[in-house]
Amino acid sequence: MKKLLYQLDTDALPSVFDNVVGFDGGADQITAYGGINAGNVGALVEGAIFTRGPKDKKNTAIFIGGGSVPAGQAVLAAIQEKFYGKFRVSVMFDCNGCNTTAAAAVASIAQGRSLAGRRAVVLGGTGPVGQRAAVLLAREGAKVSITGRKLEVVRAACEALHARFGIEAQALEAASNAERAQATVGAEIVLATGAAGITLLEAKQWQDNPTLELIADANASPPAGIEGVGLSDRGVERHGKILFGALGFGALKLALHRACIARLFEQNDLLLDADEIFTLAKNMVKSGAGK
Ligand SMILES: NC(=O)c1ccc[n+]([C@@H]2O[C@H](COP(=O)([O-])OP(=O)(O)OC[C@H]3O[C@@H](n4cnc5c(N)ncnc54)[C@H](OP(=O)(O)O)[C@@H]3O)[C@@H](O)[C@H]2O)c1
Repeated sequence: MKKLLYQLDTDALPSVFDNVVGFDGGADQITAYGGINAGNVGALVEGAIFTRGPKDKKNTAIFIGGGSVPAGQAVLAAIQEKFYGKFRVSVMFDCNGCNTTAAAAVASIAQGRSLAGRRAVVLGGTGPVGQRAAVLLAREGAKVSITGRKLEVVRAACEALHARFGIEAQALEAASNAERAQATVGAEIVLATGAAGITLLEAKQWQDNPTLELIADANASPPAGIEGVGLSDRGVERHGKILFGALGFGALKLALHRACIARLFEQNDLLLDADEIFTLAKNMVKSGAGK
């Protein structure tokens, strides 16, 4: 029986990245739909859940992608409303790579050390990756702050995270590099998740910060999100800090995304969202994946 993946994307054009990783993760056939929303997804879900018998349903799965996490969450809710009893298939949620990227970054940072009680600042943390990273850092017991350029935007993100995941994150307005450096005073961990090619912190601003221990940058497009962090840094020590660059945990992110796709076809009732994907990431890090 062929493994069929339905790639449901809230953007007009479904992501090629998600399509390629879907095949690399083990799907035999991927049907990608763009422009998906809560109003039009229902018939597609019915097609997925009513076609194969109970033992074979695990060979059909759904991937939710697209640039907007709220739009994706609305689609997820609409999909789940259609499921009942045995009439369900496994679903992975990874809008803009939010879960796989955040999980790979935080699992890498947390490898071999406890983050409990440590202060973590997510710079540019109002986007999909930053918000999920804030959740996962909080799950590890860190005291999390999120920065963004406008306080009301950061506050709205923190409130949404509290409502969806029950976590507390402090909202900080920081529109300039100097304000972001100020936001990291007293912190042990800083993770930059700003838009591609935007520098959020200069080298001196972390090198001269005596409390910072762990520094990670998700931005893979030059210039670096945190100046002085190498793209391929993976737990290297410089200036007394442990550094992780975007490609340093990018291999784990890709391996994780593929592993999640493979998991979808093992049973028909999985939901792979932030927490489930993070658990998988931590297990993969323990077993040395992504090196
Ligand atoms: N390493 C990997 O494997 C991997 C995978 C996927 C994504 N990524 C990278 O991860 C990062 C985060 O992705 P994302 O989709 O969450 O990012 P995003 O939504 O494009 O941007 C994140 C935040 O950056 C802030 N921002 C935008 N323009 C800015 C500017 N000019 N100055 C300062 N801040 C600005 C915005 O916050 P405010 O408006 O609130 O300030 C925005 O919410 C990106 O760099 C992306 O390329 C890496």
